[in-house]
Amino acid sequence: MPNTSPPVERAGRIDEEVSALLAAKAHRTKVAAIADAAIQLRGDLGDCSNYRAALTEAIAREPPPFDTEYYSDLYHQSATDPRWMATSLLTNSEREGDGSRRLWSLAACAPDNDEQQQLKRHAVDESKHSLMYLAILDLAFPHSVSRSFRRELRQLSPGFSMYKHLFPVAGSPYAKAPTIDDFLQMNIAEIRTTIHHVLQRQALRSHCPEDNVRPLRRIQDRLLSDELAHVGYTAFLIEKLCRNAGHNKVLELFCKRFRDFNRITTEELGGNVFDCSLACCAKRDWCRAKASGASARFYDA
Ligand SMILES: [Fe+2]
Ligand SMILES: [Fe+2]
Repeated sequence: MPNTSPPVERAGRIDEEVSALLAAKAHRTKVAAIADAAIQLRGDLGDCSNYRAALTEAIAREPPPFDTEYYSDLYHQSATDPRWMATSLLTNSEREGDGSRRLWSLAACAPDNDEQQQLKRHAVDESKHSLMYLAILDLAFPHSVSRSFRRELRQLSPGFSMYKHLFPVAGSPYAKAPTIDDFLQMNIAEIRTTIHHVLQRQALRSHCPEDNVRPLRRIQDRLLSDELAHVGYTAFLIEKLCRNAGHNKVLELFCKRFRDFNRITTEELGGNVFDCSLACCAKRDWCRAKASGASARFYDA
């Protein structure tokens, strides 16, 4: 049974060492390292051997561009610009809020009680993350937005909590029972988010006023802990569903979804974008905001 311990406990298990480990890993090995760290941190997921085997083969066939030196260098180059960095935090907040609404709809329609509770926890985490990115903006770039705009920004988060009753968000294409395809996409998205988190963690240090470094680090630790938990629980669900679906089918689907993610990442890099926004997705008929039918559906938060 997967661990659904509250995020406060999970946050206590993450520290600088984990972040340093992820940051120091050689490129082309970070995706696997993050999956391993996520599985180990939970401690109750077993070895997720079927999931790990499928992941290893999928990234060998479809190497992710977000796990390369070029990607990391380009990010750090962009991140030296405070305006770019601040905008990227706002995009993160928007994306987390959007991802939260998708997960909430998916959770509302999940027939399996365990899956439902985990999806709900995930939706609540992302809803909080949306506000946490705004708190990071306040700490790293104090007074960078007007008070009235800052108040408006709070609406990026749907404000979900575990005490609220689930409901499918009106008109959401995610108001449907989750499938292994959904969990594969979520798993890739969460790994990519973790890579972004580590890059952002390093880059924000040079912008943040000294007095705000400690509170900033506390929020970042909590974010990293949560993102790894999201990688871990989706890995566990994939492992469970692998047994029925069969290795080859899961591998093919994993490869296809990595291909989709890699395509988006490469396109985004052309525009110097590292986390697509809703407006960005709206330009592509196959991107996450247009989720329906056979189109790719992403839960990038
Ligand atoms: Fe996440
Ligand atoms: Fe998140």
